[in-house]
Amino acid sequence: MKKKLLIIIGSLFLIIQLFPISKNQSKEYSKDITTIEKITPDVKNVLQSSCYDCHSNNSNYPIYASIQPLAWWLQHHIDEGKEELNFSEFAGYSPRRRFHKLEEIKEQILENEMPLYSYTIVHTQAKLSEQQKSILINWVNSAMAKMKADYHPDSLKMKRRK
Ligand code: HEC
Repeated sequence: MKKKLLIIIGSLFLIIQLFPISKNQSKEYSKDITTIEKITPDVKNVLQSSCYDCHSNNSNYPIYASIQPLAWWLQHHIDEGKEELNFSEFAGYSPRRRFHKLEEIKEQILENEMPLYSYTIVHTQAKLSEQQKSILINWVNSAMAKMKADYHPDSLKMKRRK
């Protein structure tokens, strides 16, 4: 009985290997955040090492990304993360959305919500140090101040959600 079960589980494991993920590596950067925001190398480095795996069009895949169901789980995070915020599409967002996303970035960092905890267990180097946090917060603050100076306040207010 036990042997049969093991064979079934083993077969299922092999079968799911036939459904790999399509990798998030489009290298499409025409609307990248760097086309409209001044991103210093300091800021760019932190975003790249801690956020881009889930919030850009180009993820760096760990070795386990070739194994199902781990890859599906990873893919899910990437899909969800990109839907909320995609630094490679940022320039295509409306000013209102860009402003709101900047606000959210600050919030997520101050509350230690991002990068996702489950991700930092494996990707320990992605964990933000206090210095890296202040690099990002300073950048967000100045990007928001610049938007406030460039746009009418009404065009930065989020429309009230129902
Ligand atoms: C392992 C993948 C992953 C990494 C790395 C990651 N995020 Fe996220 N992020 C997500 C997912 C998934 C969501 C959507 C679900 C949620 O809010 O938990 C999200 C949501 C967000 C949101 C929107 C939150 C909201 O309340 O609407 C912001 C802003 C954000 N992330 C910023 C960042 C920043 C900044 C970094 C780097 C310091 C980062 N994330 C790193 C996966 C990730």
